[in-house]
Amino acid sequence: MRVLVTGGAGYVGSHTVLALVEAGHTPVIADNFSNSSRGVLERLELVAGVPIECHEAELTDVEATERLFRVEPIDAVIHCAGLKAVGESVSAPLEYYRNNLVSTLTVADVMARHGVRRLVFSSSATVYGASHASPLGEDSWPLESSNPYGQTKVIIERMLTDIAAAHVGWKVALLRYFNPVGAHSSGLIGEDPRGIPNNLMPFIAQVAVGRRDRLTVHGDDYETIDGTGERDYIHVVDLAAGHVAALDHLDAMTTDVRAFNLGTGASTSVLQLVRAYERASGRTVPYTVGPRRDGDLAVAYADPSRARAELGWMATRSIDEMCADSWRWQQNNPSGMSSRLAN
Ligand code: UD1
Repeated sequence: MRVLVTGGAGYVGSHTVLALVEAGHTPVIADNFSNSSRGVLERLELVAGVPIECHEAELTDVEATERLFRVEPIDAVIHCAGLKAVGESVSAPLEYYRNNLVSTLTVADVMARHGVRRLVFSSSATVYGASHASPLGEDSWPLESSNPYGQTKVIIERMLTDIAAAHVGWKVALLRYFNPVGAHSSGLIGEDPRGIPNNLMPFIAQVAVGRRDRLTVHGDDYETIDGTGERDYIHVVDLAAGHVAALDHLDAMTTDVRAFNLGTGASTSVLQLVRAYERASGRTVPYTVGPRRDGDLAVAYADPSRARAELGWMATRSIDEMCADSWRWQQNNPSGMSSRLAN
């Protein structure tokens, strides 16, 4: 299939592009490069061994989005584009609601006009909010999030459900990511956060490589294995494979819309992840314990059984592989995607 990957230059999008090529699909990237780098394209083509079509496009702009569908037919859309920093969404909610909701509405609108009915959407485990216990199942209800970023995912899931119900033949997979980490084993593609990383593994990586002095552990007085927060870390290459599994399953879906958790079903504490990273890198990761971070949960991990039963997909890569691949990426690319490529 010819698959439009919005946000295809970003962290999850770029790994998904590679997974699509490997599976014999033809990805077409659309990205506005607001939080990604053009340098990723050369790297993607190096790893994939084929040219990859890429368009710079603002998906909140109907005309620009229309153009993507006009040149050649699109068979399906994987919609990864969106703003995703929780803290930023609290200070700039207008921007988050406008960008994430309007771009999704525009993509859906243009899909409808062009008769494209297959959609895979990047949602997040953040839709489960704080009121459900782990393991988190897809039927948990109600969905709510404590921050505007998460709320955009809740609203978009609802919007797409209504759209799919009203338009004949639509098939929509809502992929609820747990905590994507790691990098492609080539060391050429990985996460390239701008500024101070918000998330744990990229922060640990920058401490290990000497770019930052120490990690602050956000609280060690939770009721968890060692007092620090537990999360379901999933290797981004497994996550990318989950997108292809969902795409390939769409036509066989018996409902218009289906949500799938993409997680491992296991949880790892902050300190366990620090230790694993130290083993993978051979470096020490100094840390101090600070107060809890607002809005954090003690524990969050997936019940991944639906994706296994219906998509035939499960995560296979271990925490050690996640750390080893992150470390290779971090070491090879001290300045992220703008680092010089080794010959
Ligand atoms: C966060 C977002 C979630 C988003 C996900 C993307 C919140 C409340 N949730 O999830 O919406 O989809 O990122 O991966 O922000 N930690 C530290 N020190 C740090 C950073 C993190 O101790 O410097 C701890 C946190 O307290 C938490 C764990 O590490 O226990 C994971 O944090 P993080 O990587 O930010 O992910 P989440 O908070 O689970």
